[in-house]
Amino acid sequence: MPNPYISGTGFYLPPKVINNHDLSKFMDTSDEWIKERSGIEFRHISNKQMTYELAVEAAKDALSNSAINYSDIDLIIVATTTPDRLFPSVACHVQKSLGIKNCPAFDVQAVCSGFVYALSISDMFIKSNNTKCALVIGSERLSRIINWKDRTTCVLFGDGAGAVIVKKSTEPGILNFSLNADGYQNDILNAPAYFDQGKIEGFPFIKMEGKEVFKKAVDVLSKNAIDILENSKILPKDINWYIPHQANIRIMKTVGKRLGLPSSKMIQTVNTHANTSAASIPLALNLGFKDGRIKKGDTVLLQGVGGGFTWGSVLFIV
Ligand code: ACO
Repeated sequence: MPNPYISGTGFYLPPKVINNHDLSKFMDTSDEWIKERSGIEFRHISNKQMTYELAVEAAKDALSNSAINYSDIDLIIVATTTPDRLFPSVACHVQKSLGIKNCPAFDVQAVCSGFVYALSISDMFIKSNNTKCALVIGSERLSRIINWKDRTTCVLFGDGAGAVIVKKSTEPGILNFSLNADGYQNDILNAPAYFDQGKIEGFPFIKMEGKEVFKKAVDVLSKNAIDILENSKILPKDINWYIPHQANIRIMKTVGKRLGLPSSKMIQTVNTHANTSAASIPLALNLGFKDGRIKKGDTVLLQGVGGGFTWGSVLFIV
């Protein structure tokens, strides 16, 4: 059986950085409050670059790190909550910008779980289809849908993109994935607007019941991690690196503790990127590879959770 193997990663963060002190100049908040409640210190904000442009830069970085040609890519999936247009997809814009031809290209919308959903779909394409080399990207320009007058949400988010190359291989690669959703919880985290006859109807910004999201995220991530590890016959102690969605350091540490994973095994970027939704996991994964922490033979657990409510895990060997 061929295995989908992660053979390269890349990233892009827009150059503009806003720290907590900058925010406290125009809203009633403080560096202490934001750091203590979320772990966030900085976030990157895109002034002009569109979601597809962030994705293209991350893809170029991943391609340059994986020693494959652009023409080798035969599947493009972009996970995003903030597509630039109603259609066509961000993935089709990426395909055109990179000059890639003759392959499927589509977006996945599962909010902050989007990247683990997209990676799982690439796994299925590679195992059951002729796909040999997938480009899987998480890209977000969340600043477009942040309500800067709502201090309970706006301090938590940022923009950016992360990309991975997933290649058909005889290496071990992706071992398992587990995805889930609970649409009955669609009201605790959403941006409840839609277009109708050229007008925006409803509220086009992120709305969140923070405490409910916190509780639900801890619960589903812990249970989902235990399930995937049991199904894969892997013990928590065998995990070398845990890379959860980077929403809030308190959620990440609580889940890590429940699983018996020490903080030293967790890669975290929430302090410097804030919550970049579908981009947060590939950004953290890229950091772990580039700074040399993640090594050949390591076992890595990725976990996403977000609006929908959606969640999921991907387990792989480097
Ligand atoms: N600065 C200063 N004070 C603030 C701010 C702010 N930015 N935001 C809220 N407050 C105030 C509130 O008004 C409240 O004041 P009050 O007691 O006078 O009413 C007080 O701080 C406490 O507010 P809470 O909402 O109770 O704060 P909480 O401890 O729950 O922390 C937070 C809020 C950080 C949002 C937390 O609920 C949380 O982490 N939730 C998880 C949600 C999450 O991580 N979401 C990310 C997106 S979801 C995803 O990606 C899955």
